[in-house]
Amino acid sequence: RIILATPSGARPAWMAQKYPEVLRVNQHYERYHFGGRHNHCLTSPVYRRKVREMDTALAQRYAHHPAVILWHLSNEFSGDCYCPLCQEKFRQWLKKRYGTLENLNQAWWTSFWSHRYTDWSQVEAPGEMAETSTNGMFIDWRRFSTHQCKTFMMAERDAVQAVDASLKCTANLMERFWDYDYFSLAEGMDVVSWDSYPAWHSGDDVAKAAEFAMNHDIMRSLKNQPFLLMESTPSQVNWKPVNKLKRPGMHLLSSLQAVAHGSQSVCYFQWRKGRGAAEQFHGAVVDHDGRDDTRVFNEVTATNEALAALTPVCGSLPKAAAAMIFDWDNRWALDDAWGMQIKQKNLRETCCQLYAQLNHCGVETDVVGVDADLNRYKLVVLPMLFMTKPGFAQKIREYVENGGTVVATYLLGYVDESTLCWLGGFPGDGLREVFGVTASELDTLYPGEGNRAIWVKSSQQSSIKDYCELLQPAEGTEVVAVYGQDFYSGHAAVTHHVFGKGHAHYIGARLDDAGNAAVLRAALADAKVHLRDLPQGVEYHCRESENARYHFYINTTQSAVKVQVESGADLLSGKNVLGSMELKPYDACAIEEKVK
Ligand code: GLA
Repeated sequence: RIILATPSGARPAWMAQKYPEVLRVNQHYERYHFGGRHNHCLTSPVYRRKVREMDTALAQRYAHHPAVILWHLSNEFSGDCYCPLCQEKFRQWLKKRYGTLENLNQAWWTSFWSHRYTDWSQVEAPGEMAETSTNGMFIDWRRFSTHQCKTFMMAERDAVQAVDASLKCTANLMERFWDYDYFSLAEGMDVVSWDSYPAWHSGDDVAKAAEFAMNHDIMRSLKNQPFLLMESTPSQVNWKPVNKLKRPGMHLLSSLQAVAHGSQSVCYFQWRKGRGAAEQFHGAVVDHDGRDDTRVFNEVTATNEALAALTPVCGSLPKAAAAMIFDWDNRWALDDAWGMQIKQKNLRETCCQLYAQLNHCGVETDVVGVDADLNRYKLVVLPMLFMTKPGFAQKIREYVENGGTVVATYLLGYVDESTLCWLGGFPGDGLREVFGVTASELDTLYPGEGNRAIWVKSSQQSSIKDYCELLQPAEGTEVVAVYGQDFYSGHAAVTHHVFGKGHAHYIGARLDDAGNAAVLRAALADAKVHLRDLPQGVEYHCRESENARYHFYINTTQSAVKVQVESGADLLSGKNVLGSMELKPYDACAIEEKVK
């Protein structure tokens, strides 16, 4: 079976020579020369036409080939272009969004530093040589870049589907890639696929596994559908600062992890190592020696055998009890905000830390955008949701009022979708009432500085770094933990508020893992979510179909562990399991429980 890629990710030299406009322009207004990959302008009409011609020819030849099961559009879309064509498209996009310059000036707060625009032609993309201080413009540029990429990708899809409307398409994504809003790109594809390259054995593999568990869950959540693992390496990559081999067993384990989270495939970059150029030392199924009896080849064979045994799992999906909000606009707005720790806001890390606590107790979690239907979930986590876009705060309000449980952290609801601050106190947009708390000030700590949170009921203590919000609880709000140091010692650091039929927990400071775990466990108890008592480093996931549940237990540690499991057939070992089993280092099981 073949997933056939269109060639637009790697453009030939003759085209760059004949049509220089296909080459990308950087922030310094320098046009790149031919070289590398992905350095084309996604706006260029010439490039779009050439790509359409190539895709059409390819589709005409292979559309009905029995081996071709899916079309793969381009490769790892990325980057921006600052050429005059893109600048003009940006202005057109803005005109459509704002209608009048007056609206744009208001949204971008351009009266600041006399930056008001009096003619559309004055508007230029933000960049090192141009505007760097208008946050609203910056975020619109990111939205525009996503839009350009999406229309480019969809034009490729249209070219292929013009030949045969039944052809299905994907594009390979890159985990929590910064450049484009993946929720938006995913709308333009039939199936999500992604390229996963964890740096195993570079430190704490249990933390790495939790991080990639979250990455897989983002990919599943983009369309709430099973996804494809499009690229992985059976051994090592060639582009990290240190390119270490996967230890024996890790390839199979990390492949099974992808499947447990909803992947329908494990594919490789690359089948066979090339002799020259940049990727000659990138791991491959077949090495330069051309042999099929190597350690790596045998690991790939073992993985394929495991995948064959897991065929019944295809099409099933984990059913998440919890959701974590990960919104690209919020991420861009936070990264660009002048304040806090300017270069180290660490949204990604915060999400990973909170996600890991849910993962450690076997709580299936979707990582969704702000448009998701929250009523599917018992618990919703809002890490550093600095920006609240229209309708979202109201959605949270209704969700809690009707019995949902939410956990939010510091920096909630500071700005609107244009990055303008909410007035009247944070969290804004009506969220103060839901959480029963006002964050009156934000203290940003220097690296190395800390504080402590002291739990009021248990006297448990957690360390704090980076951020401390000074919380003013409303009447009726429970103070769960207080600060242990500084001028706000004794004041609220963590709160809990009953709102309507639901619960709203608020974490005002960047807590350590034990602190996050304490808040999340209390919230999970409010939400009546079942927790699992898993040994440290064992992940649990359950893919469900109409007829069966598939319980995956994945041991990401190098020690053997005993786990309590469901009784049933382990699809991987072919044995029947009764209630408990031993998992060897890097071992996994997939127990089938028939439900009909
Ligand atoms: C990306 C690309 C591949 C290859 C690999 C190397 O995922 O899509 O073409 O360059 O990286 O890891």
